[in-house]
Amino acid sequence: MHPALARLAERLARVPALGAAELEAEHVAVLGRKSGELTALLKSLATLPLEDRKAVGAEANRLRADFEAAFERRKAALAAEAGRAAWRGVDLTMPGRGRWTGSRHPVTLVLDEVTAIFRGLGFVRATGPEAESEWLNFLALNFPADHPAMDMHDTLYLGGDAGPEGRMLLRTHTSPVQVRVLREGALPVRVIIPGTVYRKDPFDASHAPVFTQVEGLAVDEGISFVDLKATLAHFARALFGGDTAVRFRPSYFPFTEPSAEMDVSCRICGGNGCAACKGSGWMEILGCGMVHPTVLANCGIDPERYTGFAFGMGPERIAMNRFGIPDIRQLYDGDMRFLGQFG
Ligand code: PHE
Repeated sequence: MHPALARLAERLARVPALGAAELEAEHVAVLGRKSGELTALLKSLATLPLEDRKAVGAEANRLRADFEAAFERRKAALAAEAGRAAWRGVDLTMPGRGRWTGSRHPVTLVLDEVTAIFRGLGFVRATGPEAESEWLNFLALNFPADHPAMDMHDTLYLGGDAGPEGRMLLRTHTSPVQVRVLREGALPVRVIIPGTVYRKDPFDASHAPVFTQVEGLAVDEGISFVDLKATLAHFARALFGGDTAVRFRPSYFPFTEPSAEMDVSCRICGGNGCAACKGSGWMEILGCGMVHPTVLANCGIDPERYTGFAFGMGPERIAMNRFGIPDIRQLYDGDMRFLGQFG
């Protein structure tokens, strides 16, 4: 037998024991185009005596096929081994670690629902700054200059010099955005105004010094109290369900006349009376009214020609009713175990 054939057969037998780097080297040493031993043998066939050429040639070609198959098999085996090694030391019976996923805050959920309902009625979103002047927060809205709400005890004033529109303060409601929108003068107006407001209130189960409001405003020719009632009744049914009853009680705000508060039938007891509605069967949801002519005039709008309605509500209260949250502070404590439950 040709001496190279015997040597190559031995090398072939060792392939299944080679490591990754050795395998690479052996591939080159046997089948490499320039220096491979088997390649050299195949090239040298033509120089062999005719009687050897046939037998050696057949054997060399079989070896080439065997080497190729052996290298492939070893490569696959090494890859599988590396995959298993990556799992060594991993306890596959250990329970998985829970992943924390974000969720929307209950107040955000209510805000999104409220704005979506009014978007369906053609209202667009408007916003304003949280630092406002006395004029925008109070006086343009027809508060008399000695109104108790303007007192230092109720309102957070920012200090510093008074500007042309009075002292600066943290807005106590979203109504100053009514003035901002109206004095731009583009009529008709239909806006929904979500925002943060500030009051010098104690932080207890039902009050917070920082909370949220959603304001609405519609001004056009020919708007009447009927439009206010129909719009807000539609809103209440869209938010609380089609069988919700609404009632309007006379109220007072300096910037609306007439003014009202809207109640909806308690969604917990269906109107029969329970602890949540203090036995009345009704829940107060929002304040509303026809925009006071003085407010329109303060914004450069002719109150003889234009009329409108406005309303304001607190999404915290609605969220507390909706989700049965007994203490407003739970909405601000930032406890993810609590906040993660709502959506
Ligand atoms: N701004 C009023 C408040 O904070 C709510 C309100 C808005 C009432 C618009 C009537 C119209 O209490």
